[in-house]
Amino acid sequence: MDLIVARNREDLVKARRAGTVALVPTMGALHEGHRSLIRQARVRADQVVVSVFVNPLQFSPNEDFSRYPRTFDADLDVCREEGVAAVFHPAPEDMYAPDRQVSVSSGEMGRIVEGAARPGHFDGVLTVVLKLFHLVRPDLAVFGQKDAQQLALIRRMVADLDLPIEILGAPTVREPDGLALSSRNRFLSADDRRVALALSRALRAGAAQLTAAEIRETARAVLDEAGPDLDLDYLALVDPATFAEVGENHVGMAVLAVAARVGATRLIDNVTLTLNTP
Ligand code: PAF
Repeated sequence: MDLIVARNREDLVKARRAGTVALVPTMGALHEGHRSLIRQARVRADQVVVSVFVNPLQFSPNEDFSRYPRTFDADLDVCREEGVAAVFHPAPEDMYAPDRQVSVSSGEMGRIVEGAARPGHFDGVLTVVLKLFHLVRPDLAVFGQKDAQQLALIRRMVADLDLPIEILGAPTVREPDGLALSSRNRFLSADDRRVALALSRALRAGAAQLTAAEIRETARAVLDEAGPDLDLDYLALVDPATFAEVGENHVGMAVLAVAARVGATRLIDNVTLTLNTP
C-alpha cells in the first residue's frame, strides 16, 4: 500500500482503515531511534501512523525551534521503508488557532528536572500529544525512553484524563560508542561529539554503583572530567513515575537523568537502574 500523507483532520479520516492503529509522534528528522519506535508499533497494530510536526508550543523563545532540523522528504522515505500506513504532517496554523485559549498543564511534575530547565516545555508537549491523540484516534502510541520524563508525563496524562490509549515505551537506541541517538546530534562537531560521550559514560559509571550517593557522586565525577566544554544543566537520580529525587536510602527502580549543552547543542540522556542497597 502507498504511504498516505495526511495534512489535516479530513485527510486523516480518509486514511483510516479497519483494524488497530498505533501512533508514533515525532518532530521529524527521523533516525534509527524512530525506526525502532515504528517497528515496535508495527508489531502491535494493524496500521502505523507517524506524525511529523515540529511543535512550536514546546520551545521557549530562546530555544532552537527555527534551527530544529526539518527533513520531510527523507522522513517520508524512512516511513515508506518501515511500512508506515500514513504520515500526519499538519501546518502549524492548522494545529493552533491564533486565538487559542486552552492547553494542558503538566502540573508540578512538569516543572521539575527537565521542566525546571525548560519552563513550559511539558505543557507544550502534552498539549500537542493530546491533540494528536484526538486527531489520529490511535489504540496505542509509542514514545522513546530517551525522553523519560516526557514518557512518564504522557502516562500520567493518560491516567489522569482517562484516555483510552495504551502507551508503550521503547528503549533508547545508541551509537556503538554509547551516544544516544537524537535529531540534534547532527549539529555536533567532531570535538563536540567527543565531549558529548561524557553523558553516556557518566550514566554507565553511575549505574555500576550500588547506593544512591555513590551513583550521584560517580556520575558527577565523570561529567566534571569532561571540563568546561560540557555545560551541565542537571544530573538527577529520580523516581521513574514521579521524577521526584530519590532519597539516599532509596531501594528499587530509579532513573539517572542528565542534560548538558555541548557547543550550541543541548543533549539529554538517561538510564533506568535498580538500587538494592540502602
Ligand atoms: O519527543 C518528541 O519528538 C516530541 O516531544 C513529541 C512527543 C513528538 C511532541 O512534539
